[in-house]
Amino acid sequence: MTTTEVAVDRPLQDLDWDNLTFSVTPTRSMWLMECDKELVWNEGKLEPFRNLQMSPAAGVLNYGQGAFEGMKAYHTEKNRIVLFRPEENARRLVDSATRLCMPPIPEEKFIEGVEAVVRDNADFVPPFGRGSFYIRPILWGSGPVLGVKPAPWFSFLIYASPVGLYFKGGLRCLNLKVSHDFHRAAPHGTGNAKAIGNYAASLYPLMQAKEEGFDEVIYLKAANEELVEEVGAANIFAVKGNKMVTPRLGGSILPGVTRDSVLTIAAELMDMETEERDVTLEEVLDADEVFCTGTAAVVMPIGKITDKENTKVYCEEQIGPVTRKLYDMLTGIQKEKVEDRFDWLRPVLEI
Ligand code: PLP
Ligand code: COI
Repeated sequence: MTTTEVAVDRPLQDLDWDNLTFSVTPTRSMWLMECDKELVWNEGKLEPFRNLQMSPAAGVLNYGQGAFEGMKAYHTEKNRIVLFRPEENARRLVDSATRLCMPPIPEEKFIEGVEAVVRDNADFVPPFGRGSFYIRPILWGSGPVLGVKPAPWFSFLIYASPVGLYFKGGLRCLNLKVSHDFHRAAPHGTGNAKAIGNYAASLYPLMQAKEEGFDEVIYLKAANEELVEEVGAANIFAVKGNKMVTPRLGGSILPGVTRDSVLTIAAELMDMETEERDVTLEEVLDADEVFCTGTAAVVMPIGKITDKENTKVYCEEQIGPVTRKLYDMLTGIQKEKVEDRFDWLRPVLEI
């Protein structure tokens, strides 16, 4: 654990804290690191939040060579600002970088940058109970390329923004559609990396689903369409009785930090039977409760799933008891209302 420090004496920003949405509010500063042609990273430093300049031939613009992370800082009940399992995001970005031929960010530099951004922008962190501080690290090919090959040099940036919940309308039962026309990831593709291109490819199915009145899409496994894979930007879980299942990681699913945390909470704190394995669409449709998890999404109940012309309803207003308990336990730990038995919190500041 790092030692906490007393925050610099800045008054809280004058923002509409009760109506935060999942959108960007520019803050004071961002963290920037650059590497040279030898692919050696510089020390990195805070800079004023600003637009970037880039070569028209930058690897990221031409061939999508980029990966990102998503994590949050929370103002807790104990009046501290904490990070939640940041080491997991640091490690996952190393894996994404390796898959995309980018020089990994040393994990301790990743954490140093994240902590620096939180400290310098502590007055943008929503007060206790009013939202969270979303942190977005991005690594990309900034040097010019014309042939298809890795960029000659790279940049790493961390910006952050106060946010509310990802899905408009707060904690509510989502209305999802099973996608039979598109896959999110292919076997041996980039599904398990947080590659920027994965998200570009998800926009068309997402926009179609929204036009039809759905909140998001459930993707099936490309290798076997009887199996479910993920929700657009979150992992999926199904609950039947005391058993909770989620698709096993197998290369095409993003290994979510929230997914792992929810599996641990259910097994260790709620005495549930948990399984990571192939999960059929049929058993999802037969479940008592279905929910999805992610840093942005938190734990969101799935109220309805439409598969072709059939709709299964799980909840309308009343959230299922397991989903509710998992939401309360996870957010309770993140806000220091529930004991941090797994040592997941990394305090950054006392305020
Ligand atoms: N799956 C996808 C495709 C995602 O984009 C995300 C969000 O990061 C997740 C799952 C959940 O991951 P995490 O819980 O680490 O945020
Ligand atoms: C997250 O949950 O942090 C994500 O990255 C999902 C999304 C906003 C892309």
